[in-house]
Amino acid sequence: MKRTQVAIIGGGPAGLLLSHMLHLDGIDSVIIERQSREHVLARIRAGVLEDGTVQLLRSVGLGTRMDQEGKVHDGTLIAWQNRPTFLIDTKKYTGRQMMAYGQTAITQDLYAARDAVGGQIIEQASDVQLHDLTSATPSVTFQVDGEQHQIACDFIAGCDGFHGVSRLSIPGDILKTFERVYPFGWLGIMSETPPLEDIVYTQHERGFALASQRSPMLSRYYIQCRTDTDLAEWPDDRFWEELKARFPKELADQMVTGPSIEKSIAPLRSFVAEPMRYGRLFLAGDAAHIVPPTGAKGLNLAVSDVFYLHRAIETFYARGSSEHLDAYSATALNRVWGAERLSWWLTKLLHVFPDQEAFDTRVQQNEFDHLCRSEAAQAALAEQYVGLPF
Ligand code: APR
Ligand code: PHB
Repeated sequence: MKRTQVAIIGGGPAGLLLSHMLHLDGIDSVIIERQSREHVLARIRAGVLEDGTVQLLRSVGLGTRMDQEGKVHDGTLIAWQNRPTFLIDTKKYTGRQMMAYGQTAITQDLYAARDAVGGQIIEQASDVQLHDLTSATPSVTFQVDGEQHQIACDFIAGCDGFHGVSRLSIPGDILKTFERVYPFGWLGIMSETPPLEDIVYTQHERGFALASQRSPMLSRYYIQCRTDTDLAEWPDDRFWEELKARFPKELADQMVTGPSIEKSIAPLRSFVAEPMRYGRLFLAGDAAHIVPPTGAKGLNLAVSDVFYLHRAIETFYARGSSEHLDAYSATALNRVWGAERLSWWLTKLLHVFPDQEAFDTRVQQNEFDHLCRSEAAQAALAEQYVGLPF
């Protein structure tokens, strides 16, 4: 039986960042991760950071590499078929900017920060189970190499993603879930080619597409695809041809194509689990919510959850107050639903739905035309896209 103050289930961005921030306040934690570190670091995930995420990472000593390698953007472009290109101008309307810096790099930085201070990360843990969540003495059991272990703790942070065990540890008569599954996916590739200058969403009759970036020689592109798409039917040449067909010619002509070093299909869903707390268990990140990636909110929501959860736990140990623990779920969910709404709205606006009728298309076009005409609408979008203050 080992003991720690906070047992963290999951060593992705949420779990690693929480462990790092707790350590800075002298609070002990142990991360229990199902996969190997190599597996976690091989994941290709998000790439655009809200201003709040950038500021928080800097404030906890994780800004050096980000500021060296990340790229600041005044906003993101929307290239709508046969219309002038539009900028979600976060700098003009909020004075704040976005940062293109990959989740993989952030996860590397987090692992390095934990390693530097001897942070405890248990890898390849199986059969993870949470116990006595409504008592003052919860614990976690798990196996490593066939050997059973148990860790007693004061709190359990469920940072184990959408497919984890934590959310499922909340009784079914207490947990409420809300879900919308979209009738399309994103086919994404990574290529070692110079990206476009800007991050660009396109709205096109052939479907949505996105041009993004990870570094001056690493491009990330996506095209909307059918949910039953077979990767084998999408060799690189076909992908590049379809991607360019969905962009305005002046942007398509700027694209530098090359062999893909990663290619995958992501399903799109909106999902929220309420509450994000059950006794001494607190959910953070994908364990509690999923957004369609259209608004680049997934990673940023994990960060804001961790900001609130760290503050709650720190306040408990520092002042013996449970005020932020008791408010955690409502506080986090308010921001979660704001990101869910924005992501859902952008997904509806920018994608072609299989059952879409002419009326829907006209409404989409008018929504975009209104956005282009109305500074109030532009400001409202910009403040949500750059991220509302924590
Ligand atoms: N026990 C221990 N670890 C687990 C278990 C389990 N039963 N189930 C899952 N895990 C681990 C996964 O292997 C993963 O490393 O939990 C971690 C969860 O990490 P993420 O899925 O990355 O979720 P999170 O840390 O909340 O970060 C959210 O990641 O998936 C992206 O789009 C998402 O950008 C967002 C970010
Ligand atoms: C990415 O760079 O992977 C990315 C950018 C913007 C999004 C989603 C993903 O909205």
